[in-house]
Amino acid sequence: MGYGLKKLSLALSAVVIAYLLMYSGTKFDPADVQDKKVLITGASSGIGKQMAYHFAKMGANLVLTARRENLLKEVIEKCKQLSPNPNANHAYIVADMKELQKTKDVIKFSVDALKGLDILVLNHARLPTTFKLWFGSQQNLTDLATDMDINFRAYVHLASHALPHLLKSKGRIAFVSSVTERFPIPGMTMYIAAKHAIQGFFGVLRQEMVLRNTGVSVTSCIVAGTSK
Ligand SMILES: *[C@@H]1O[C@H](CO)[C@@H](O)[C@H](O)[C@H]1NC(C)=O
Repeated sequence: MGYGLKKLSLALSAVVIAYLLMYSGTKFDPADVQDKKVLITGASSGIGKQMAYHFAKMGANLVLTARRENLLKEVIEKCKQLSPNPNANHAYIVADMKELQKTKDVIKFSVDALKGLDILVLNHARLPTTFKLWFGSQQNLTDLATDMDINFRAYVHLASHALPHLLKSKGRIAFVSSVTERFPIPGMTMYIAAKHAIQGFFGVLRQEMVLRNTGVSVTSCIVAGTSK
């Protein structure tokens, strides 16, 4: 998945945002995003970074998180330049999603910085750098735990800590998935398993949000990239 991802991300991020807003049930008006309080994970590069720029252009308040501080700083600077709103808040917090206990800090930081939360965009992922076959070795099992922590459990933890705030704002959870989850591609067991887990979990959470009449929406953004 590492290949060509950078080039794709620019075009894809627009698609992801369109999905996010279209499937919220109302017609998309960029003005709806203005002044919204948005947290994006995996925002230092790729689709997350491009989403940050789109949200900034629409005047949203942003907290970005990722592992690499130098990149986050650059993205924040550009968000400031792109924002039409001089009072918009743009902050970042460095976190590695493999440390699940950090997810609580990320939400707390965001809610403090933004004074609430309207939109949680779950986008970070550990992408497979090469195709690796599953042999069932101890190494595979150890790696599975880390992969599921980052690519699945961190999504659930972030959403859980954010939920009280999203209930208040009748906010949104959006998570980025990929068409690859629909195909049993050899060499991608762990990544595809995690994406399935996300779909399963958040598909049910969506129904529960409706059932409980919370006004919180849950949106699945399925990236379907082709070359160029
Ligand atoms: C599983 O472990 C073996 C070594 O024991 C390694 O060659 C292979 O790439 C690993 N597969 C995955 C999916 O990590």
